[in-house]
Amino acid sequence: SPSIRPLVAGNWKMNGLSADLEELKAMATGFEEACGGAVDGLICTPATLIERAARTVEGQGLSVGGEDCHAKESGAHTGDVSAEMIADCGASHIIVGHSERRTDHGESSQTVAEKAKAVWRGGLVAIICVGETEAQRKAGETLEVLDEQIAGSVPGNATADNMVVAYEPVWAIGTGLTPTVDDVAEAHAHIRARLVERLGEHGEAVRILYGGSVKPSNAAELMAVDNVNGALIGGASLKAQDFLGIAATY
Ligand code: G3P
Repeated sequence: SPSIRPLVAGNWKMNGLSADLEELKAMATGFEEACGGAVDGLICTPATLIERAARTVEGQGLSVGGEDCHAKESGAHTGDVSAEMIADCGASHIIVGHSERRTDHGESSQTVAEKAKAVWRGGLVAIICVGETEAQRKAGETLEVLDEQIAGSVPGNATADNMVVAYEPVWAIGTGLTPTVDDVAEAHAHIRARLVERLGEHGEAVRILYGGSVKPSNAAELMAVDNVNGALIGGASLKAQDFLGIAATY
């Protein structure tokens, strides 16, 4: 979709200490030159790093995000962090419903939708993740799973400005495996159609990222697929050389 400005986003997951801010600094200073100013860049870090990360990238072509938040604004939720707190650290986006949250923390699509609304309450953009497991793909259930996850996780008042959707096939995450470009095209076209049904013209304009083993060597092929409006990158977002190599495919 040439009219949609792509987003190249990193998800550091549970990786990153102060020392890694040097790597982030190299990403921030090199980003605009790498992609020729053609795409938006974002790195989502553990909550412990967001504030320092935001200071590190300040004034450069990169923003900073969180990886999850609690649905409530504040209160008796020991160990949790709210969207408002993440916003207060200088973040612009928060990932919600990553498959690792859905699996490790039993998050349902309803929980994910509540978290997306919390992200908006905090004034930020929600990156809502969907994607099938290997068993679901083998059973031919991929599109059904995407339907259920979109219906359950995407609130009806989502817009192209407050939401990004990330398609991450669970079996492609951290495995080095990627779907074929035809499979990516099918999944993204399906997600686009559902978002248009649900959100009208906002569905036409919302960014749909592909995530799962994106690296410099396969990014050009994946990013060229119809309805792929950028990437959500795990492992290859930890090193400036890899992240900038992916940005440079634009
Ligand atoms: O959120 C991004 C992620 O799940 C993909 O991870 O390491 O396969 O790029 P990776």
